[in-house]
Amino acid sequence: MFENYQAPKELIPSDPRFGCGPSLIPVEYLTKLAATGVHLMGTSHRKSPIKNLVKEVQEGLRTYFDVPKDYSIVLGNGGATLLFDMIGLGVVEKSSLHFTCGEFSEKWYKAHKLIPWIKATQNCVATGEGINPEMTSGHDMICGTLNETSTGVMLSKLPTVNSETILAIDATSGAGQVPCDLKKVDLFFFSPQKVFASEGGLFVAIMSPKARARALKIAAEKGRYVPEIMNWAQAIDNSDKNQTYNTPAIATLFLLREQIVRMNQVGRKAVEADGNKKAELIYKWAEARPYLSPYVKDAQFRSNVVATIDVDAKVDTLALLALWEKQKIVYGIDGYRKLDRNQFRISMFYNIRFEDLERLTKLIDHAIKTVL
Ligand SMILES: Cc1ncc(COP(=O)(O)O)c(C=O)c1O
Repeated sequence: MFENYQAPKELIPSDPRFGCGPSLIPVEYLTKLAATGVHLMGTSHRKSPIKNLVKEVQEGLRTYFDVPKDYSIVLGNGGATLLFDMIGLGVVEKSSLHFTCGEFSEKWYKAHKLIPWIKATQNCVATGEGINPEMTSGHDMICGTLNETSTGVMLSKLPTVNSETILAIDATSGAGQVPCDLKKVDLFFFSPQKVFASEGGLFVAIMSPKARARALKIAAEKGRYVPEIMNWAQAIDNSDKNQTYNTPAIATLFLLREQIVRMNQVGRKAVEADGNKKAELIYKWAEARPYLSPYVKDAQFRSNVVATIDVDAKVDTLALLALWEKQKIVYGIDGYRKLDRNQFRISMFYNIRFEDLERLTKLIDHAIKTVL
């Protein structure tokens, strides 16, 4: 369908990376990392250069999110997927309630469901719809996903939970750009390869005193088997000393620190506003085209980090994206594979330039008009 399509030069974005994670890492961070030469990479994570790096990450996040002083910032290996299990095994007392709306929120629910000694319950909506977590008695953990990356649905409201209940939020693709008041959340966690422009493999868990106490209490219990790699007591203790639990990827910490510094230069409100401006551009564009429509119908749930846009069935989006990938013009905007829709899924993370998103919309228009 697009065999002979030629993209006009002026519509080609300055950076081809529009994927939803791993996301665009600024080339200048990579240059800066290379310039550290022999002083960082290949040194011990128990020594001051790396401990200082961890400290800068923790303090930078504290400033950025305005994290209350008595909250802990715990770092470890394994990313959000590991935390799904680590939370189920080590922070849920008896029962978790999951508000699910797509692949990742369901994955978390399914991870808890496999643990024989806790009860996991799901409150779900169809894909493309949003659902806000609600305080529901009878559960000691309420689980929500700040941004469901598979469908482009974000939370629009957080509940207030009681003193017996932990509100846990998987913030992997929303952290830093989707508004979220951490004072309301007990366990806010993410992997840093999205808005925070780092590599995968690391987890960040920001814990209220209530969540920390629960994790430490369960860790001290005899008889509950938790694999050593998911030992909360050790992870918390090491993080208190500005260290990750076990050996981290140093480059990941370096890139994360760079991005935190960049985002702190403007502050969280400005980053959120930047995301809103990009979202307005993309959704208005999609609404104004007869061959496009936003997948998420209810505007309050439309994400300001990941836009999902349905495309007229007559357009072979996969053929177009394969061509662009071959030409190194645009990467990573195919829809989430398991949704199986003729769809673009476009990241609007902070590092993606507004002007590039504008170019991308014009490029898509141009390509589609040649075939319709
Ligand atoms: C919302 C959400 N949760 C969890 C994950 C899993 O993260 P990781 O692959 O770093 O374990 C992802 C990955 O894209 C995600 O988008």
